[in-house]
Amino acid sequence: MAKPLRNLVRLGQLPTPIQRMDRLGAHLGLPAGSLWVKRDDLTGLAGGGNKTRKLEYLCFDALDQGADTLVTGGGEQSNHCRQTAAAAAKLGLKCSLVLAGERPDGLSGNLMLDRVLGADITWVDAESSSADLDGYIEKRCLDLSESGARPYNIPVGGSNAVGALGYVKAAMELRFKVPEADLVVVATGSCGTHAGLVAGFMDHERVLGIRVGEREDLEGLVSERAAAAAALAGLNKPAGQCRIDHGYLGEGYAKITDGAVEAIELAARLEGLILDPVYTGKALAGLIGNVRSGQIAPGSQTVFMHTGGMPGLLSDRYAAVWSAQ
Ligand SMILES: Cc1ncc(COP(=O)(O)O)c(C=O)c1O
Repeated sequence: MAKPLRNLVRLGQLPTPIQRMDRLGAHLGLPAGSLWVKRDDLTGLAGGGNKTRKLEYLCFDALDQGADTLVTGGGEQSNHCRQTAAAAAKLGLKCSLVLAGERPDGLSGNLMLDRVLGADITWVDAESSSADLDGYIEKRCLDLSESGARPYNIPVGGSNAVGALGYVKAAMELRFKVPEADLVVVATGSCGTHAGLVAGFMDHERVLGIRVGEREDLEGLVSERAAAAAALAGLNKPAGQCRIDHGYLGEGYAKITDGAVEAIELAARLEGLILDPVYTGKALAGLIGNVRSGQIAPGSQTVFMHTGGMPGLLSDRYAAVWSAQ
C-alpha cells in the first residue's frame, strides 16, 4: 500500500534525532521529559532543514521523468532554493532559481550559498510567498524547454503532494520514537511540512501550525494537501480539523518579532539550539505563547519540529537585532 514512500533518492541523514528540551521546558514551567525537539535542522544537504525530506521524493520524480534541470523559486533568503541547488549538484543536475524581488548589492546567508552551489538565478518582480511566483517558475520551465533543456518544475517550498511525502515519513519516525507525543508544533509557510505530518499521523489534531507567511487560507491548503499526500502514501484521509495559530506572524513574512527574538535567545541560551528569524523563531514563539496561555497543557507531551533555516539568521538583514547587545 505504501509503495510511493519507497520512491525516493537518498539525499540526507535520516532519521533525525529527537531530543529532550528540559531546560527550556523548566523555564516554561513544564515537567522534565515533556518538551522535545525533532532535529530536522540536521537532515544534511548544504546545512540541513525540512526541504531535504521533500527533495528526496521530488528528485526521484525528476530523475524518473528524465529531467536535467531542477527549477524552483522563493524569496532572496529561501532555504528551499538553497537546498534544491544542493540536491541538483549532488545528482548531477542543473538548477535554475527564480527569486522574488530585486537583486541585492551584497551576498549573504542563503543567497551566498545559492551562488556557491552554482545555481543559475533569475530575479522577478513578485512577492516571495505569492502564487505569482509559481507562474514565474512555470515560465522559466517553458523558456528552458524551448532552449532544449528538460526542466522539472518544483513549486514554491516543494509543497505539493509528492514533496509532502517527506513529512509522512517524519511522522512515522515520531510515531515510532515518541509514541506518547500529543502534539507537534511546526512553522507553516507553503504548507507541505504541516500537510505531510498530518497525513502521516492521519490526524489534524496532532499538529499545530504556526503561520509564518502572508497567505491566509492555510487551513484549506493544509487540508487539501494532507488529503492528497495521504492518498499518495496509501493512508486514510486525516481526521479532525486543521489547527493553525495566526497570532505570531507580526508585520509579515520574514519581519522579525519580539516573540521570535525571545524564542531564538531562549533556544540558544538554554538548549544550545540555533533557530532562524523567519520560520523556526516564530514557530517556537508560538509554542511558548500556547504554553503560557494554557492552550498547551503542562501534562502534555509536545514536540517542536526544528525545520532548520540557520543561514537566514546569518543574512545581513538581521545583524542589527543582535549587534546592539
Ligand atoms: C526553515 C524552514 N522552516 C519551515 C518552513 C515552512 O515549511 P513549508 O513551506 O513546508 O510550510 C520553511 C519553508 O521554506 C523553511 O525554510
